[in-house]
Formats: sequence, C-alpha cells, structure tokens
Amino acid sequence: MPDAELDAAVPPSDATPDSGSETAPDVTPEAWSGVHRGPLRAGEWVRLLDQKGRRHNFELVPGKRFFSNRGHLEHDELIGREEGFTVTSSAGGEYLVFRPLLSEFVVSMPRGAAVVYPKDAAQIVAMADIFPGAHVVEAGVGSGALTCSLLRAVGPHGKVTSYERREEFADVARRNVTQFFGGEHPAWDLRLGDLAEALPASGERCDRIILDMLAPWECLDAAADALLPGGIVCAYVATTTQLSRFVETVRIHGGFTEPQPWESLVRDWHVEGLAVRPGHKMIGHTAFLVTARRMAPGQRPPLKKRRPAPGAYGPDYTGPRPAGVPIEAAEGE
Ligand SMILES: C[S@@+](CC[C@H](N)C(=O)[O-])C[C@H]1O[C@@H](n2cnc3c(N)ncnc32)[C@H](O)[C@@H]1O
Repeated sequence: MPDAELDAAVPPSDATPDSGSETAPDVTPEAWSGVHRGPLRAGEWVRLLDQKGRRHNFELVPGKRFFSNRGHLEHDELIGREEGFTVTSSAGGEYLVFRPLLSEFVVSMPRGAAVVYPKDAAQIVAMADIFPGAHVVEAGVGSGALTCSLLRAVGPHGKVTSYERREEFADVARRNVTQFFGGEHPAWDLRLGDLAEALPASGERCDRIILDMLAPWECLDAAADALLPGGIVCAYVATTTQLSRFVETVRIHGGFTEPQPWESLVRDWHVEGLAVRPGHKMIGHTAFLVTARRMAPGQRPPLKKRRPAPGAYGPDYTGPRPAGVPIEAAEGE
C-alpha cells in the first residue's frame, strides 16, 4: 500500500489528542497532490528556516536529533505538532517549521541531473496548457522535478509518460517523485529509453510533449507523430544555440505553428519601511522555453508575409534553413 494511503488509513499515534486542530482531515490519497494536512508525522520531511534565513530539510525520525550551530532539537518535539510553529534549539536558536512546498522540495531533493526550476515549471504548466486529465509525454525525466508539477497538473485521471535514457537518473527520479507524492502516482509511467525511438515504437498519442534535454530537435519528428492535432510541443533549453536550432527545426518541419520562444526572469523585492527596492540577488538565467502547436495531418501554417530580418540567414548562418529562404550575400559583398 502506498505511504499516502497508509497515512490516511492510520491515524498518527503520536498526534496530540487535545490539540483542538481546526484543519480539515488529511488530503485523501485520491487527490495525489503530495500535500499533507494535520499533525507532523514520523517519516515526513520538514523544512526548518533559521533566523538568518538558512534552510534545513530533514526526515522526522522518532528519537533522532537535529544538530545545528545553535545546539540541537529533538525530532520528537516536532512530531505530532501542527506545522507553522517556531521551535527553540538547546542553544537558543529559533527555527520556523513547515512541511516543504513542491517548489521547495524540488530544489532540495537529491539530483541526478539539473532540474527545471519552479519558476519555469510554472511557465510550462501555464503556457504548455497542462490540464487535468491531459496525456503528457516528457523527456528526459532527469531528477523528476518537472514530473512532480506535471503529475499535479494532470491529476490522477491524466497520464504522464516520462522517458529517460539513463537508468541512474530514472532511479533518482523514481525515488524523488514517489517521496513527494507519498506513493507511486497512478498517472505516472516512467520508461527507460530514448524518446526519439521509444515513443514511435509505443504508438502512443498525447496532448502535450515537454522536451528538457540537450538536443530536443532530434525528438521533433517523434513528437510530431505522437501529438494530437492542436497539441503542444514545449522545449526547455539552456543556451541560445540550442534555442535557435530547435526553433528553426520546428519551422522547417512544417507541421507546427510558428514557434514562440521566451524566457522568464523573476526578481525578489526588499520591502521595509521606506527601503523598497529590488533585491540584490536573482537567478539571472535558467533556460529558454519554446512552444508550438501541432497542425492537423497534412495541414501547414499560412506562409509568413514578413521577410526575415536582414542578414538573419546570411552566409554565416549554418542551421536549418526555412524553405524559400536563399543564402543572402553578406553586407558589402
Ligand atoms: C536536464 S535533465 C532533465 C531534468 C528534468 N526535467 C527535471 O526537472 O528534473 C535532461 C535529461 O534528459 C535525458 N535525455 C537526454 N536526451 C534524451 C532522450 N532523447 N530521451 C530520453 N532522455 C533523454 C538525460 O539523460 C537527462 O537525464
């Protein structure tokens, strides 16, 4: 039985009986949200924030101690309490205690490969239009960070098929995703293999395809064959050269709408009395995103009326060349 079902079926024996909790009962396992309500239980992960803003994540184990530079805390002091409290360590340090949110879990979980950052996972869910009940295909699964967001968005009645060509990464992802949801999510199908070969071989059709890998253009034909008309392909690429190659490959394929590339920048703000200003630090770059919609079989998007920018496809350009775009002479030749 998955842990989440156990959680719901067995009341925590160490819960404070007279805590007077007014929160709703724990989220049912059928919701598959990865969220738990009610008192903290042994085996769950907690996130402690110290007075300097440092984060500490650990699993609650009865009888165990958490050590920091401000002494220690007994796990038993935390187990059985409603999250959202301040606890004081043996040397007087104060810590805020909550269960980690999904966005906090994915940046602290063990990693096999670089993860999709929460700001980008949010963009993918919104702009690739991931909906409850959708059938989404993704590759590669890496550490399983994006997988958690996709599974949350499609819900237990959707389907996420994740392809990963490296077994060691697939193992890390399986552990992370299973830990987050508290059991094996019923909508998740993790497959070992290269999407470019394994997806066509499966004969699977889907609503959305998310490609987070070094060479997403190598998977475009497979994605085009699997996507239903109106479906969306979305690529997450770290560099401008990858972005260019993917966009031009989508264009020359012809069975997709004009690709839409963008990036998102998120900046914290410092708000204190009259000192209201942008924060000093921000994540300057994660990756670029591109989406395009699949046309119906045999259909092509209308021809573009606007000419490419001067020099865009000049002699220095070596990537895929859209049909009808000649090699322009370089300026001055
Ligand atoms: C950056 S990681 C993915 C991270 C993941 N999206 C996450 O949020 O944790 C890229 C992964 O893609 C895998 N990969 C690359 N090309 C692939 C392909 N054609 N099919 C399946 N997996 C692929 C790599 O092995 C690697 O694990």
